[in-house]
Amino acid sequence: MSYGYNENEDSDENDNPLMAGLWMDDDSLAPPCGCEMEFIPWMLEVAAVQSNDTLLDLGAGDGRICRLACLGYHPPSSPSTLHSCSYSIGVEIEPSACTLFNSGIIKDDLEGRCFCLNSDLLDINFDKPIQEVEGVTVITVYLLPEGLVAIEDKIRAWLNAGEAQGNGGVKRRVVCNTWGFKGWEPSRVVKVEKFNYTELFLYDIDSIPLHS
Ligand SMILES: C[S@@+](CC[C@H](N)C(=O)[O-])C[C@H]1O[C@@H](n2cnc3c(N)ncnc32)[C@H](O)[C@@H]1O
Repeated sequence: MSYGYNENEDSDENDNPLMAGLWMDDDSLAPPCGCEMEFIPWMLEVAAVQSNDTLLDLGAGDGRICRLACLGYHPPSSPSTLHSCSYSIGVEIEPSACTLFNSGIIKDDLEGRCFCLNSDLLDINFDKPIQEVEGVTVITVYLLPEGLVAIEDKIRAWLNAGEAQGNGGVKRRVVCNTWGFKGWEPSRVVKVEKFNYTELFLYDIDSIPLHS
């Protein structure tokens, strides 16, 4: 099973594909580049985001995923339909990205449904209300492998808590773009041909390694 890493190579470049430590800020878990807009429906479709979902994007950049999820997206496998989530929240550490995010919320008329939180995502408890929004059901992640290691325990706790609470009727899911959690078993892997076979990894409670 691939997790977005080349398991056969043991090099610095493989551990740190963007050589991030050379240029990243101390508290940054990924560079400030967003995924392509046309790619977002693939992410949302993999997680089957629907009207009973509340989505949280960890490292949200200009909020493109959050905004499209609320505005509505056409799943690539059934483009004639339109799905949207109820609420979305993006946590972003860069104030300049938050400025773009907040103006996008106003431009798209999404106040009250889509929220930007200017914070370090490591300081967030995913299980508590965020920006007064409760009940996150889908988490989207486009972070470097180092970032995934940093959030792994929190994601595990969040999935476990959902299971213990009965998930409020909606199973908690996580979708990772390009890199996944090492040693976890994705419930689905999709390679998006149109985007150079970029991989998407879907995780749920059954993905957590038994030994952890
Ligand atoms: C690769 S971009 C992804 C943006 C967006 N999620 C997307 O897929 O288009 C990663 C984002 O995470 C943000 N980020 C990095 N470290 C963070 C941290 N510790 N807390 C919150 N945001 C962070 C970066 O500033 C950047 O905007």
